[in-house]
Amino acid sequence: MTSNIEFMSGVKGLKDIDVTGKRVLIRVDFNVPMDAQFNIADDRRIRAALPTINYCIDHNACSITLVSHFGDPKGGYEERFSLRHIQKRLERLLQKKVEFIEDFENAHAEIASCSLERVFLLENIRFHSGEKKNDAELSKKLASICDVYVNDAFGTSHRKHASTYGISEYVSISVAGFLMLKEIAAFSKALEKPVKPIALVIGGAKISSKITLLSAVMPKIDKLIIGGAMSNTFLHAMGCDMQASLFEPEYLETALKVLDEAKRNKVKVYLPVDVVITDSVEHPIDIKVVPAQDVLEGFSAVDIGPASVKLFHEAIELSNTIIWNGPVGMYEVEKFSKGTYKLANAIADSYAYTIVGGGDTADAVEKAGESQNFSFISTGGGASLELLEGKILPGFELLNR
Ligand code: ADP
Ligand code: 3PG
Ligand code: MG
Repeated sequence: MTSNIEFMSGVKGLKDIDVTGKRVLIRVDFNVPMDAQFNIADDRRIRAALPTINYCIDHNACSITLVSHFGDPKGGYEERFSLRHIQKRLERLLQKKVEFIEDFENAHAEIASCSLERVFLLENIRFHSGEKKNDAELSKKLASICDVYVNDAFGTSHRKHASTYGISEYVSISVAGFLMLKEIAAFSKALEKPVKPIALVIGGAKISSKITLLSAVMPKIDKLIIGGAMSNTFLHAMGCDMQASLFEPEYLETALKVLDEAKRNKVKVYLPVDVVITDSVEHPIDIKVVPAQDVLEGFSAVDIGPASVKLFHEAIELSNTIIWNGPVGMYEVEKFSKGTYKLANAIADSYAYTIVGGGDTADAVEKAGESQNFSFISTGGGASLELLEGKILPGFELLNR
């Protein structure tokens, strides 16, 4: 039986086709961490797409159209989710002019004009309601502006959306970009013949989409270390009142099921024993460390405390493969970043094979000064969890073989 990794390694790549004179559409993942003033915190995901874009330029593609989502807009245009905020950085990194296209449905003629090997960046594809629904009409429209489809959005390859999946049904040449294949090769090392014990460290704020994966990864791991807003959900489910902390009230049942599943699979679970709490996330005045069960009324848990750091450190030291997604606190705020940075230091110092994934987690590792000390930094958070689960990611499924 072929594994999910073997299946995905078998897709065609850019080097298997000829892009000369072709209109190439590249699905990239430019969902980079950005602050409220539109400053890009970490451009790793943009840099990671450059080899594929440059290859198409060097091999005389007629035009290159870049498609990405940015954040998760709920209905149509919102300035804070516009990909315009990426355009300048992309131009600087590519050292080439990038033309921004607000409405691709009216840009057929532009994209087809081959004079300058032009590079286009489309506006956030999730402003179209059809994107997340994998709508056939949107897939066809995207297909109609290209001759070749290249998927290089590893960070989004676990999504069955129009630009990551559906489009492949309507373009005869559909291949993987360099980033997609590089990611699969790196995960192959961690997942095909992993050296046990394997620890999964999970945190962050995307609770609903990640908590549902945890039961499925249990047979693959030995330890589960949980922090961040994710652990708030577990702690609340276990009877600690997390007060004003960010957690998912709708997933308390799921959290308990995950713990049951862990027990059944003999997976040791580590949750914070103490947390950093604050009276206000935006304007903190009162900040304290308290036991996880003693969060004060009106306060929010925004980081793991020093005893939890020690506990997690010990669990990490005794692991041989470590996969990490999700900061264990609001690391963007300096006062709430200690837990995440210390965790980054601990994982980096271990002798394990270490993979870190996710837009924010990769940023945190960079800020902790540890990006050289991980075995591999993946651009995918949710995508890496689904790989671990053993799934074939939709972004690879329909590519040419
Ligand atoms: P990634 O991008 O690496 O996949 P996520 O997007 O799931 O990670 O989560 C990152 C976000 O989680 C960060 O913006 C961080 O501030 C937030 N976060 C972590 N812990 C907490 C917490 N306790 N309360 C609120 N937000 C948190
Ligand atoms: C990410 O940031 O994990 C990827 O870009 C996927 O984004 P999504 O979880 O909003 O689909
Ligand atoms: Mg994120």
